[in-house]
Amino acid sequence: MTKRIFIPRDAAAVACGADDVAKRFALLAEQAKIDVEIVRNGSRGMLWLEPLVEIEDQGKRYAFGPIAPADVDGLVAELSQGAAAAGIKTSKALGLTEEIPFFKRQTRLTFARCGITDPVSLADYKAHGGYEGLAKALALEPSGIIDEVKKSGLRGRGGAGFPTGIKWQTVHDARADQKYIVCNADEGDSGTFADRMIMEGDPFVLIEGMTIAGIAVGATRGYIYLRSEYPHAATALNEAIDTAKAAGYLGQTVCGSSHAFELEVRLGAGAYVCGEETSLLESLEGKRGLVRAKPPLPAHEGLFGKPTIINNVLSLAAVPFILAEGAQAYADFGMGRSRGTMPIQLAGNIKQGGLFEVAFGITLGELVEDVGGGTASGRPIKAVQVGGPLGAYFPQDLFDTPFDYEAFTARDGLIGHGGIVVFDDTVDMARQARFAFDFCAIESCGKCTPCRIGAIRGRETMDKIMGGQDRDKNLDLVADLCNTMKFGSLCALGGFTPYPVMSALTHFPDDFGRARKLPAAAE
Ligand SMILES: Cc1cc2nc3c(=O)[nH]c(=O)nc-3n(C[C@H](O)[C@H](O)[C@H](O)COP(=O)(O)O)c2cc1C
Ligand code: SF4
Repeated sequence: MTKRIFIPRDAAAVACGADDVAKRFALLAEQAKIDVEIVRNGSRGMLWLEPLVEIEDQGKRYAFGPIAPADVDGLVAELSQGAAAAGIKTSKALGLTEEIPFFKRQTRLTFARCGITDPVSLADYKAHGGYEGLAKALALEPSGIIDEVKKSGLRGRGGAGFPTGIKWQTVHDARADQKYIVCNADEGDSGTFADRMIMEGDPFVLIEGMTIAGIAVGATRGYIYLRSEYPHAATALNEAIDTAKAAGYLGQTVCGSSHAFELEVRLGAGAYVCGEETSLLESLEGKRGLVRAKPPLPAHEGLFGKPTIINNVLSLAAVPFILAEGAQAYADFGMGRSRGTMPIQLAGNIKQGGLFEVAFGITLGELVEDVGGGTASGRPIKAVQVGGPLGAYFPQDLFDTPFDYEAFTARDGLIGHGGIVVFDDTVDMARQARFAFDFCAIESCGKCTPCRIGAIRGRETMDKIMGGQDRDKNLDLVADLCNTMKFGSLCALGGFTPYPVMSALTHFPDDFGRARKLPAAAE
């Protein structure tokens, strides 16, 4: 009987040698005359174990990792002697994949299929519940689809956390001869990779989510604005789009209905600010990525001046589950106004880095210490930055913060796109504050003064502080500058740069040559 071997095609696995592992497996299996089918799946998200090879046995999948090409010889030798996957003796054996604690603790709604199916097989997608959401959507009125998205409580996963259903309602209500769905796949935040993983590991779920969005608001054309650094995602998406078109899931009559929906991938030009929705639209129109003043909102005047939905990959990829299982099934997870699950990305100096999808409400401490296992260096954690380069640095004292939009805001932070970057006690937080200004100076689109000039002045002032020059005076100047940037910038690039700067200064004053304030009770 053919044995199925799963070796990820995900860029993270490929970067760790998955292609060489797959080639070696194919060669040795042929030489040993064992009947194997090698499936190039998406990643299971346990990145410290990549390349993670899985061998299927009686419907169950056993994991081995990280596997180097040299490890393949032993695996094939055991298989050729008839060993069952569970009985293969190697230090790389990890048991049943889904029993690995990092995997078992998750609630995978958006990533339910990622790593399980062949990403570009439509048959596999459908066999695992794919396109059930679209079937439900086609049976509803457009307003019924929007009601479901509203009831689910889904909020935008790109950073701002704006309610997705309300955005859809605005575009639905707008009158125009043409409307668009734009997927923001620019994923520029440091330590984030969830968009990439889902596009490489389950591209049909994004295509299905965008198709449902198109039907809901009356948009007949969609674009995926994909960062050019994601060539593997581009390949998977284009292959899946071609397949969906050939099977009638995209095109002039989606599934034989009266709805048309065409979809294309467009590559970005590599600027962080092109992830900002209006700058993205400029870039998509073939212009320089310069932020537009709002209003008008893209929902009223977006791409080529037409009403446009812009949603992050994860927001759109959550929609098929919501339609297929019902809004309540999604809203049942989470806390407060943060409903459903969040695909959290653990990165930086962390022992077990990867993708961890879980209901909102888990604390930051549980995530980095229990799930992530602490630092990779083995040293104590000093700080974690949550929400990308514009997110705040949190010290250990704030590790009881639940992963929830409002809870993070209450502590002057943001969850952004769900990226968590861990730093050990060797990090110098003054340098991190300088880095925040430097990043803003490099990436600024230049349209408004607080950001264009402020970031450079901030970097210069940090240099003076780090050089011991008029420290107190210059620290006050940094705080004043942050205030101007926060309230005077046109978009969140300049407006949020104060978060990493001020959180570093507030929580780690010693690194800036200032005495740490004692907690109120001890004063
Ligand atoms: C400087 C900057 C960069 C951004 N980068 C991204 C990005 O890479 N991906 C993303 O989805 N949203 C990004 N955003 C947020 C978008 O402007 C927008 O809020 C989002 O695409 C809306 O989709 P959502 O409602 O599904 O989150 C960025 C915002 C700013 C200010
Ligand atoms: S804040 Fe910065 S990136 Fe945003 S519009 Fe102003 S100059 Fe451009």
